[in-house]
Amino acid sequence: EKGTYPHYMLKEIDEQPLVMRKIIQTYQNEHGELTIDREIIDALNEADRLYIIAAGTSYHAGLVGKQFIEKMAKIPVEVHISSEFGYNMPLLSEKPLFIFISQSGETADSRAVLVNVKEMGYPTLTITNVPGSTLSREADFTLLLHAGPEIAVASTKAYTAQIAVLSILAEVTARSRGLKVGFDLVKELGIVANAMEVLCDSKELIEQIAREFLSVTRNCFFIGRGIDFYVGLEGALKLKEISYIQAEGFAGGELKHGTIALIEEGTPVIALATQESVNLSIRGNVKEVVARGANPCIISMKGLNHDEDSFVIPEVNELLTPLISVIPLQILAYYAALHRDCDVDKPRNLAKSVTVE
Ligand code: M6R
Repeated sequence: EKGTYPHYMLKEIDEQPLVMRKIIQTYQNEHGELTIDREIIDALNEADRLYIIAAGTSYHAGLVGKQFIEKMAKIPVEVHISSEFGYNMPLLSEKPLFIFISQSGETADSRAVLVNVKEMGYPTLTITNVPGSTLSREADFTLLLHAGPEIAVASTKAYTAQIAVLSILAEVTARSRGLKVGFDLVKELGIVANAMEVLCDSKELIEQIAREFLSVTRNCFFIGRGIDFYVGLEGALKLKEISYIQAEGFAGGELKHGTIALIEEGTPVIALATQESVNLSIRGNVKEVVARGANPCIISMKGLNHDEDSFVIPEVNELLTPLISVIPLQILAYYAALHRDCDVDKPRNLAKSVTVE
């Protein structure tokens, strides 16, 4: 039930701090250590390469997950769009493990890949929010998101839950391999949960930004570098699916290779700046688009922020920034849709789970 909330999406955005705490708690053992079934960790350790298969928002979470697993556990990861995998199957490694990320656990495109790779005899793991879902029943192993039911078509809390569970999977695998991740993930995810709360309490400011940047525009661009690029893809998907504004996410460095031609007087460009190593480069990209008339909205992380930034998110571990930088983007999409009188929870042409190929 959505209770006093006008929309499920807003309720689900607000549930994210709670979900984060629930995930930390559920994946902790009695000594406070993060833990995952031994057989799952063994399966990861036996693999020479992981193939993440997903669609939409879950695909975007997979892109972030690849960073975690490669950086922490040092296992190579490929991320594939499920609907493409069938005809564009990459040359597989000798010992692949397939990881399916699906909020609903029912996405037909992802299931088609699961059926196929099972026939080929490869091990499979599903990360889903729905116990007993098709993808969960049919895979060898399952990890649950514990996000509670997600009703709004636009996925919000499932995305952050997917990323959190992937970070835990990466950390536990790293530890099993004797690798040091260099930080205490339980503590860092706790900091993330608190930061999420601060962001959920900043809706008025974000609504104002939506009014200023998105109420009349035809299109909108999201730019970022590194992990921020992936969050930009998700921000763009959220905005287009519920507000019908044409939105695209780009790697900052790619702008000059074509997209910059689309910048006109007043085009909103939302830039993410949460990574120290690329902070100045992304700001350089903002200058390039401003010189061509763009209306820039910089969302930065505390410590990396400059005076001209529109919104500053609290500081969290650099690898975990997608968990919080996405929240202002979810809220922006929500208000953009609301201001345009769109049906926030049930956008046109879309279904919550896509059970056709
Ligand atoms: O249930 P799944 O995670 O497999 O769904 C995948 C996509 O259909 C889903 O993420 C879709 O892109 C959402 N509407 C995005 O908000």
